[in-house]
Amino acid sequence: MNDFTKLRHADLRRLSTFQLPARADRILVIERPEQLEQLPRAEGPELILSGGSNTIFLGDYHGRILLSRLRGLVFEEIQGRDTVRVRVAAGESWHGLVRRCLDRGLHGLENLALIPGSVGAAPIQNIGAYGVELDQVFESLTAWDLQQRRWVDLNREDCAFAYRDSRFKSEQPGRYFITEVRLRLSRQFRPCLDYGSLNDALKRANLSHPTPRELVATILRLRRHRLPDPRRLSNAGSFFKNPIVDEAQAAAALRKRPGIPHWRLSDGRYKLAAGAIIEHLGFKGKRLDGVGVYQNHALVLVNYGDGTSPALTALVKQICSAVKEEFGIVLDCEPQLIEGAAR
Ligand code: EPU
Repeated sequence: MNDFTKLRHADLRRLSTFQLPARADRILVIERPEQLEQLPRAEGPELILSGGSNTIFLGDYHGRILLSRLRGLVFEEIQGRDTVRVRVAAGESWHGLVRRCLDRGLHGLENLALIPGSVGAAPIQNIGAYGVELDQVFESLTAWDLQQRRWVDLNREDCAFAYRDSRFKSEQPGRYFITEVRLRLSRQFRPCLDYGSLNDALKRANLSHPTPRELVATILRLRRHRLPDPRRLSNAGSFFKNPIVDEAQAAAALRKRPGIPHWRLSDGRYKLAAGAIIEHLGFKGKRLDGVGVYQNHALVLVNYGDGTSPALTALVKQICSAVKEEFGIVLDCEPQLIEGAAR
């Protein structure tokens, strides 16, 4: 146990991009996978944290936080194939990985540029943007099972990926400490350009056949407009998932507000743009005691610096109640909200 970097009564503001004021009793920094084998069982609540871009602390955390700082990246040639296996440690930055793959001429991650957070967090919520989701390039991962105290290798099926979901989120969250993610990337550039706003942006820039770098530059421009840089304005990306509803509910919502962007899914249900719903209800740009709805994108909540947990909770409640009342739709939060665990 002497082998770990430990932080006590740590300020969680610098470890969570939404930056609500909160402290953690104890943080153990994991820098090498073997350290996990030496971990004593947690006596109270325990939480795994890495980039902090999808975790919001609503109060002080009276438990143990395991902070992932694992580093490393290996490219493995696969004989006779056009694909390369990328093995990347969970503590690496996601966007850093996208850049390094781009520099090496490996394709598949372009649309996922600038998603904040670490590589280890990517499978948890099956990150996605502009028509591409992680599971399309994912091969497998290695994790330490904190419950059974053993190493596990999980493939795509084992991870049960779905829209912003996986077994790590839906079943037993916090059970697996992901140490390495393996992706399959291609030397061939077969871009996915169909997503509405991406397609429009490419047309505006006269790029019907963008190069990989032009595609990434376009994605960066789009994201910089819709998402504030957390170093300037604290946020956790999209705050709500786009709701998936049955045909009747979608039709009812669209009768009320015909402009809501919507997508038909393969199972016949519909995904509705929560940002548009929230905007229609007049919340865009609304502020409440130091927190607010971002002026450029209604799906993003921001902390203006003096935001508090009660203010955020009140704003979320207002939005969810208005959406429920007007459309009968229940919105789910996308980041994990961590209540202050009791001492
Ligand atoms: N829209 C509005 N008003 C708004 C916001 C959006 O009308 O204030 C409309 C847009 O015009 C668009 C539609 O809603 O037609 C969808 O908007 P956008 O393309 O920005 O995507 P999103 O559904 O709001 C999702 C992901 C983002 C990802 C983008 C781009 C979720 C929860 N969010 O957002 O992911 O970057 O698509 O692909 O699925 C994240 O997960 O943190 C994240 C940023």
